This record gives sequence, structure tokens and C-alpha cells, in this order.
Amino acid sequence: MFPEVIKTQEEIKEAGLDKLIIKLDHIAYRVKKGEGEKAMAELANLVPYKEYKTFKVASMNAVTSAIKLHDTLPVIVVSEGLSEDSVVEQYVKKFGGRIHHLAYLVNNIDKVVEIQRKRGVQFTTDSIIGSEKEGIKQIFTLPTDTANHIIEYIQRFGDFDGFFTPTNINELMKSTERLGEA
Ligand SMILES: [Fe+2]
Repeated sequence: MFPEVIKTQEEIKEAGLDKLIIKLDHIAYRVKKGEGEKAMAELANLVPYKEYKTFKVASMNAVTSAIKLHDTLPVIVVSEGLSEDSVVEQYVKKFGGRIHHLAYLVNNIDKVVEIQRKRGVQFTTDSIIGSEKEGIKQIFTLPTDTANHIIEYIQRFGDFDGFFTPTNINELMKSTERLGEA
């Protein structure tokens, strides 16, 4: 094994993160305006995905659809901008259609963020987005240097099975605006 990887794994375990971060929850793509359906058809052609949910994010001029394989996680989420100035379209113009983030389900997001901040991990927002009352709390890390995708930490409450709430999605998408422009 690579020495740097072993060192990091030990650190993570010692910090308690292996008990707090549970599994991959969803993989989120951002694709070119007008190519959302094509992207989903392309994936459905390779894997027997079924359509799950579609959301329109009016204020961000974007539409997000989710597909899933049987009843298993991770869900695949595909977003496309509906106008040139949409944060999604700006991102795709800069980086191409690609995976934007991998979201991991955690069982105590406050703790995860507290530990990771202490370890020097940076996030796109100062605070966690959402609340227990809304059924979901989430936060994005800055993109990785090597593959330029974000890691999302997500915690769900009650029977909430979505990927964001109408208020959350605006904040979340807005939080990556700077990255699209960078
Ligand atoms: Fe997400």
C-alpha cells in the first residue's frame, strides 16, 4: 500500500470518521443544457436504471432528475441548466459534462464537519445547509485537486428520501457558483 494512504487511513480512523460516514448515497452529474435526457438514456442503456424523481430548481434555472438501480444506493442524479446563466450550465461550460459530486450518507453531520474542519478540510459554505426539521442536512467540500469533483456529506432524518429541499438546493448550487467561474 502507499505510505501516504495508510497514514491518512489511520488518521481518519483515529478521528472516528469510519463510524460516522456510512455509504455512498448518490452520484451527481452536471451535463450540458438540453442533454439531461440524453445523459439518462445513455446511462439507462448501460445499466437497467429506472426513473425515480425529477425536480425543477426554478431560481437556479436548472432541472435535476434521479434514476436508480433496483432499490439500491447510490442513486444517480443528473442536473442540466435551462439557461445560459444557470450555475449548472456555467459549470459545464468550464469543465464539460461530468460527475460534479459524490455524496456520502453520514450519521452525524455536525460531528463529521467539526472533525474535518479541524483536520483542514474546506467546504463551500461556512455552515451546514438544511435542518433536522426539513429532513436533510448537507454540505459540500471544495473539489479534489486530482479529479476536481466535490464530496458531499448528507444526513437524512425521518423518512426523507430526497437529495435536497427547495431551500437547500438554491444554497447548495449557489455555493458552487464560484467554482464554475473559477
Ligand atoms: Fe447531492
